[in-house]
Amino acid sequence: MELKVYQNKNKVAEEFSKYLIEKSGTQKAFHIALSGGSTPKIVFDVLAEQFSKDINWNNIHLYWGDERCVEPTDAESNYKMTVEHLISKVDIPEGNIHRIKGEEDPKEEAKRYGALLEEELPKELGLPQFDLVILGMGDDGHTASIFPHEINLWVSPDNCEVATHPESGQRRVSLTGRIINNAKTVAFLVTGESKAEKVKVIVDREEGYLEYPASHVAPKTKDLVWFLDAAAAKLLTSYRS
Ligand code: 6PG
Repeated sequence: MELKVYQNKNKVAEEFSKYLIEKSGTQKAFHIALSGGSTPKIVFDVLAEQFSKDINWNNIHLYWGDERCVEPTDAESNYKMTVEHLISKVDIPEGNIHRIKGEEDPKEEAKRYGALLEEELPKELGLPQFDLVILGMGDDGHTASIFPHEINLWVSPDNCEVATHPESGQRRVSLTGRIINNAKTVAFLVTGESKAEKVKVIVDREEGYLEYPASHVAPKTKDLVWFLDAAAAKLLTSYRS
């Protein structure tokens, strides 16, 4: 596990953009699963506005690690957020965008998307393999849309599951651990003071850390990197700036 800690969110966004340029390189097809929520907004803005010319978007294929079960035009939609902050600003072919259809029946969509991953992604150890999975982490230690109260979904034998937000009851379609941990690389993008307590428990493997889905992110390749701002990293004992 590698920790990359930067002063503020903007610096995280800049450094992650450079990392992505280097990672995606000249690879013919680079398959990325995106995180949702609010953290990626500044990252996508910086990537699109400052670094887009350094990426060959014809080679980039976008997927989502999770999606809310809402219309793609809904303010809650991760796809809508990504269109606003990234896709609308870069020259990526439409055929390279593989959204989870939040408007469909959740169980049907989880099945469809799970099958799509089988078709679109190269296989490693018999499972679809992303080149890069980008993850966020909730204040409660959830990641993608695997929440602590449904942590059993992490070990589902399926590629995708239908999850339920613990407070709102909102349904989500989420990748499961079998796909996330089969990725070549997993990068957490976690910023803000509200995350510091869980970052400490999870990164420093404190007592009870395995209650949190983010603790179960462990790619077989061991290529796991945390992009953090100083606020999110401030309680870490395993890291001192
Ligand atoms: C989602 C995400 C989720 C998110 C965390 C952090 O659909 O909400 O994919 O896993 O990454 O909840 O969200 P923030 O970035 O808004 O704190």
